[in-house]
Amino acid sequence: MNKEAEAYHQWYYNSEVWHDVKYMGVPCYKSVADMWNYQEVLAELKPALIVEFGTRFGGSALFFSVTGRAINPDLKVVSVDISHEDVFPEVLLDSAIQLVTGSSSDPQIALRIEKMRALYPGPVFFILDSDHSKSHVLAELELLRRVTKSGDYVVVEDSNINGHPVLPGWGEGPYEAIQEYMAQYPDDYVTDSAREQKFGFTFAPSGFLIKR
Ligand SMILES: C[S@@+](CC[C@H](N)C(=O)[O-])C[C@H]1O[C@@H](n2cnc3c(N)ncnc32)[C@H](O)[C@@H]1O
Repeated sequence: MNKEAEAYHQWYYNSEVWHDVKYMGVPCYKSVADMWNYQEVLAELKPALIVEFGTRFGGSALFFSVTGRAINPDLKVVSVDISHEDVFPEVLLDSAIQLVTGSSSDPQIALRIEKMRALYPGPVFFILDSDHSKSHVLAELELLRRVTKSGDYVVVEDSNINGHPVLPGWGEGPYEAIQEYMAQYPDDYVTDSAREQKFGFTFAPSGFLIKR
């Protein structure tokens, strides 16, 4: 990895500036470079649907809704979380965002996504940003096996933790889940390395995936 990019990554993460990133006033726990990258992916993919695992305050759901609808006015966003208590009012007012309360590894979520796909046919952008334990991310990726189609885009966020390169010693997380998944199902996804490397660092190393 480029040393200057890694130093910036360490600063960006360890300073916790990402805790203070806001999209239109709503907290959004992301790398702003990743958000720009997502905007570029959406412009190319032109999704009919965006599925987010992990809503929290709703800043990312709002970002995906506003950006996605500028590209496809009919776009819908499904954002899944075990609790939507913290969601900001402006997110609740966005009629393109559907908040689904439940665990992102629950088979009911797969059913909901299948129904939404039938109503809104076209490519889907998925983003995994909920419980970052390896076992949970693996369960989400297993669930996606059933609902993804060729050409869909899947981002697995926070694979930078556990020393990739931040938070060494955190324990096995998204990065290790991606590794195990890819070893088990090597033909499911192509890794979009160019996209991952475009802005020097990302919160989702090895986590930009295109369904074959
Ligand atoms: C990092 S926050 C999401 C941040 C948001 N996507 C953003 O960019 O601002 C993680 C969220 O995952 C949720 N979460 C934890 N376990 C979950 C599970 N099993 N299923 C769905 N969401 C879960 C938490 O409640 C929390 O709101």
